[in-house]
Amino acid sequence: MVVPRTDFPILNREIHGKKLVYLDNAATTQKPKVVIDAMNNYYENYNSNVHRAVHLMAGEATDSYESCRTTLKNWFNAERAIFTSGTTEAINLAAHAWGKENLRSGDVVLMTEMEHHSDIVPWQLLADDLDIELRYIPVKEDFTLDLEAFDASLDGVKLVCIVHTSNVLGVRNPIEYVIEKSHSIGAKVLIDAAQGVPHKQIDFEKSGADFMAMSAHKMMGPTGIGALLVTEEIFQSMRPFMGGGDMIQTVTLKGSTYQDNEHKFEAGTPKIAEAIGWKAALDYMANIDLEAEHSRLVEIAKWTSSQLEDLGATIYGRYSEQDAAVVSFLFDNLHPEDLAHYLDAMGFAIRTGHHCAQPLLERLGVKGTARASFYLYNTMEEAVEFIEAVKYVLEKFG
Ligand code: ALA
Repeated sequence: MVVPRTDFPILNREIHGKKLVYLDNAATTQKPKVVIDAMNNYYENYNSNVHRAVHLMAGEATDSYESCRTTLKNWFNAERAIFTSGTTEAINLAAHAWGKENLRSGDVVLMTEMEHHSDIVPWQLLADDLDIELRYIPVKEDFTLDLEAFDASLDGVKLVCIVHTSNVLGVRNPIEYVIEKSHSIGAKVLIDAAQGVPHKQIDFEKSGADFMAMSAHKMMGPTGIGALLVTEEIFQSMRPFMGGGDMIQTVTLKGSTYQDNEHKFEAGTPKIAEAIGWKAALDYMANIDLEAEHSRLVEIAKWTSSQLEDLGATIYGRYSEQDAAVVSFLFDNLHPEDLAHYLDAMGFAIRTGHHCAQPLLERLGVKGTARASFYLYNTMEEAVEFIEAVKYVLEKFG
């Protein structure tokens, strides 16, 4: 069942006088009214800071904020959920709070060529400070990871960072294999699940991963909040890297002691309205059959990519049941940005550019792609309209 489109007020909007067809979901998803209402309700009826005052509204705000954490831990079966501003901050937190404490000169961090910049740059910055070695697992011609190269690159590796689902290719990586193999040599594993969790309820503990990073806004929640899930073992080996209010137990002029729960890594007034919105999004998701929806969306993506191919496009991605509903493509005779502008004029929102994955695009030998990405409220009818619009643009301007 497609989620009721009426749940998403923005989908009624017109773009340049045309009906909106929103196909930029890998960048951010739209929000159901329950999420918007939950955040408005907080600001209108119990806006207060958390973990501080004894007044009624402060208690209500604290309970609501913390109930997002409880929901998150239950949803992902995780022992520890640290709120961050999103996936990027979550990975930076891992690099600073865990990496600086646990990596030593000469240790290796192994990543993949298909990582988002947010899972490359933090480790490059750390390498400037710590003299660690960075290695990358190559991407093969069929857009999957070269697992033989992975197996052969494990010497000295202390951390493997791998994207669950590529935001460019839509390819889902063999996380289970990577985790098992990495653990067999004593390495920890960090999963960038930004594009994975909107489509799949991942069991963090069962997966065996040590860290998992995500953003709320890619799963119908608000921008400005995400989380780093970690095991208890990792949690105990992390040192705070942001100091301030809320994360301390005592402060004297000689030194400070810290909270022993997740607040230790959440200095300052946290993202209260955002956590409340995220919980509403998770509750909304709990009523959706994500597996069935995933199959439906992959079918739409597969159909869209084959139609684009018939129109002469090169497709960068795969559409097996294991992959995601992301279609990256290029036409020889039409610049992706021109295409996106023409489509925008007709009400279609897609993304173009390097998708914050420049090393992958270099590997693919292109500077950017056009990308249509589908989510729960998208329909086959919209895909058909999208293909008709692309045909029109090609006939007129291609
Ligand atoms: N990483 C996001 C995207 O793929 C912003 O569009």
